[in-house]
Amino acid sequence: MAGRDRVVHLLRQLERAACRCPAHSNTFHQGAGAATCTVRKTDYAFEMASSNIRYGEGVSREIGMDLQNLGARNVCLMTDRNLSHLPPVKAVLESLSKNGVKYKVYDNVRVEPTDTSFKEAISFAKKDSFDVFVAVGGGSVIDTCKAANLYACHPDADFLDFVNAPIGKGKPVTGALKPLIAVPTTAGTGSETTGVAIFDYEPLKAKTGIASRAIRPTLGIVDPTHTLSMPERVTANSGFDVLCHALESYTALPYNQRSPCPPNPINRPAYQGSNPISDVWSRHALNVVAKYMKRAVRDPEDLEARSSMHLASVFAGIGFGNAGVHLCHGMSYPIAGNVKTHSAMGYNVDHPLVPHGLSVVLTSPAVFNFTAPMCPERHLDAAEILGTCSPVHTFTCSHLHLFTPSPVYLFTQCLTT
Ligand SMILES: NC(=O)c1ccc[n+]([C@@H]2O[C@H](COP(=O)([O-])OP(=O)(O)OC[C@H]3O[C@@H](n4cnc5c(N)ncnc54)[C@H](O)[C@@H]3O)[C@@H](O)[C@H]2O)c1
Ligand SMILES: [Fe+2]
Repeated sequence: MAGRDRVVHLLRQLERAACRCPAHSNTFHQGAGAATCTVRKTDYAFEMASSNIRYGEGVSREIGMDLQNLGARNVCLMTDRNLSHLPPVKAVLESLSKNGVKYKVYDNVRVEPTDTSFKEAISFAKKDSFDVFVAVGGGSVIDTCKAANLYACHPDADFLDFVNAPIGKGKPVTGALKPLIAVPTTAGTGSETTGVAIFDYEPLKAKTGIASRAIRPTLGIVDPTHTLSMPERVTANSGFDVLCHALESYTALPYNQRSPCPPNPINRPAYQGSNPISDVWSRHALNVVAKYMKRAVRDPEDLEARSSMHLASVFAGIGFGNAGVHLCHGMSYPIAGNVKTHSAMGYNVDHPLVPHGLSVVLTSPAVFNFTAPMCPERHLDAAEILGTCSPVHTFTCSHLHLFTPSPVYLFTQCLTT
C-alpha cells in the first residue's frame, strides 16, 4: 500500500536522521558514533519500565511517612510559584511538618521550563546536600526536579552531557541518583511515570530533553483531590496531552520495525515503539479520556471525572513512556518553541507560552489522517473508542483518508476554544 509505505518511510527517517525531538528520536541513549548490532537490522525486544505508583484520595498525607521511611535528613521540595499557595503544596508541607521532616522549598520552577530555568534549579540543588527530592506540580515541576536530581548527583557533568543527541551528547547515566517522589497536580503529562525531562533549548528555540530510565521518579503519589484546583484551560490542555500520548503511542511504529537494533541493552531507548504491553495502557487511557475528559473540563467539582483523568494520565504515561509518541509531539516543539506573544488563559505566568497539550493537539487531526494508512485497524479502533466511528467507516477501513473531519477533530472541536 503506497500510503502505508510513505508513512513508515517518514517515521523511519525521523527516527534515524538528525531528529532533535525528544519524542521519537531513538538517538538519545546512543551518543555520537554508538555502535549498532551487526546481526539484526531491526530491534527484536522491548522492555517495560515505570515508577511505582500509589493512588488514592488524600494519599499525599502519607508522604511525610515515606520520607521518614527513606531516612531523609534534608529534603528538596520543588514547585512553581502559582502552586506554592495552592492546596496540593499545602497538603504536602503539612505532612512533612507533621512527621518532623527537614526540608527546603524551591518554588522558582518555570512553567514550560528552559535550559536557563533548569540550570537555576540545578544550581539550587547543588548548593545543599539533599538526600531526597520531592516534586509537587505538573510536568514542568516534575521535569525540572528530575534534572536537578540528575546534575546534583553528577556535579562534574556538563549540562549538555545527558541531553538528547544531536543537541546534547546523549551520554548514558551510569551513576546513582537520589530518590525522587513526584506528586502530580495536573492530568497530565504522566511525568511521574517516565524517565523523560523536557525543556526549551533557547539558543535553538526548540524543545529537547533528557531521556533515561535513571531519572524516573522512585514513587508517584497520585492524589486526585489535587486536580480540583486546576483551572478549566489547564484541565483541557493537559487532557489533550493525555489524549495524544495515548493515540500516538498506540499508532507508533512497532518496536520490531525500528532500527538500529541496539548492540547492548543500555542503548535501547526508553521510547521503543508500540508493543503489546504499552498497547494495553494506551488503549485503556483512551477509553477513560473518551468517557470523562469533557466532564472534567466542564465541571471542576466533578471528582469522579477529574480522578479518572488523573489515573488516565498515569495509564497513558506508562504507555507512551515505553512506546514513545510521534508526529503531534514532534511538531509541537517548534510550535511551542517559537512562541512570541501568545498568553495562555488560566496559566498565571508572566511570559508568553503555548501550553504543551495545546501545541500537541493542534496538528493531531492532520497527523492522524496522514498516519491512518500505516495501520488502519488501530486508527479505526481509536476512532471507535472516541465514539466517532460508524460501521460504514469500519467497512471502508482501507480508505481512512476519507475520514473528514477526522475523529480527533470531532472529539476535540468543542474543547479547544
Ligand atoms: N516528562 C514527561 O514525560 C512529559 C510528558 C509530557 C509533557 N511534559 C512537559 O510537561 C510540561 C507541561 O506540564 P503540565 O501540562 O502538567 O503543566 P505545567 O506543569 O506546565 O503547569 C501549567 C499551569 O498549571 C498550574 N497548575 C498545575 N497544577 C495545578 C493545580 N492542581 N491547581 C491549579 N493550578 C495548577 C501551574 O502552576 C501552571 O501555571 C511541558 O514542559 C511539557 O513539555 C513532560
Ligand atoms: Fe506530551
